Amino acid sequence: MKLLITGASGLLGSKLSEVATRKNYEVYSAYNQHKPHHGTPIQFNVSDRKAVKKTFEKIKPEAVVHAAALTNVDKCELEKELAWKINTEGTENIAESCKKHQAFLVYISTDYVFNGEKGMYKENDKPDPINYYGLTKLKGEESIKNLTDEYCIARASVIYGSTPATGKINFALWLLNKLKRKEKVKIVTDQWNSPTLNTNLANMILEVLERKLTGIFHLAGATRLNRNEFAKLLAETFSLDKNLITPVPSKEIKWIAKRPKDSSLNINKAHQTLRNKPLKIEQALTEMKKEIEQANSLQVT
Ligand SMILES: NC(=O)c1ccc[n+]([C@@H]2O[C@H](COP(=O)([O-])OP(=O)(O)OC[C@H]3O[C@@H](n4cnc5c(N)ncnc54)[C@H](OP(=O)(O)O)[C@@H]3O)[C@@H](O)[C@H]2O)c1
Repeated sequence: MKLLITGASGLLGSKLSEVATRKNYEVYSAYNQHKPHHGTPIQFNVSDRKAVKKTFEKIKPEAVVHAAALTNVDKCELEKELAWKINTEGTENIAESCKKHQAFLVYISTDYVFNGEKGMYKENDKPDPINYYGLTKLKGEESIKNLTDEYCIARASVIYGSTPATGKINFALWLLNKLKRKEKVKIVTDQWNSPTLNTNLANMILEVLERKLTGIFHLAGATRLNRNEFAKLLAETFSLDKNLITPVPSKEIKWIAKRPKDSSLNINKAHQTLRNKPLKIEQALTEMKKEIEQANSLQVT
């Protein structure tokens, strides 16, 4: 299958392009600034409508995973115009071209479309974003519903993985590096999510597009955790000193954008529908550890 992945240099996209290439998809890995390592690299800015159209004319993808976004939540709050152009208009451009070329579209959305007052959100719960990032992603969801029919909106939550991407490190790797250096860290106790291993998410997404499952799916980890619990489990899995982790309330951290208190996702629909199930946190961390050990052993030999 001819698969176009936007955001292929990112945390999710890089893993997705790796897994899809291994599964013999014909992968086109779209990026903006950082050239991806897997698939055929193709550079364009998603907010440039003409460039998007031209790319689709050239590749004629059968399926598209739209994972490109401005994901820095505080930057979205500060640079609203840029966030709107990339996350909302960029998604409109992709949806429009998918419709024209009858390409099945998987749009990667976020738990941040919810206000976080309730937690364990189901697919049909009403979104109500409390920051600009969440708003631009929700508007992206709406564009897809309006502009195309063959789509899946896949909402994930706190994505992490065994390798850094786009020159930035993810929460799990950042924490492991700090603990390895025996540095103390302050981690919030009053924010709950459903941390999602990028490899698990990549496998679920590929199943969704192979089976052309339409509608909204919460494709996230199967365990609701606060950041502090997540950090402690990471420390335990990697045999690092969890006493270096100090629990703090989120009011002590100076964020620019508001964060939802509990944006954990109910994954029952994905669990019941997919052969690739959302992993529980213990399974996911074991998988992540295995990936890191494999990468290290390849470097040694
Ligand atoms: N990270 C999370 O915790 C999380 C949680 C829930 C949902 N999500 C969603 O999951 C998706 C993937 O997130 P991620 O963390 O993997 O992202 P990421 O690591 O921040 O990477 C973002 C990707 O988007 C690309 N991109 C940014 N601006 C672009 C533009 N104007 N034109 C073309 N490409 C552009 C980047 O390309 P360059 O590197 O080449 O600039 C990069 O490949 C996003 O849609 C995000 O909203 C993320």
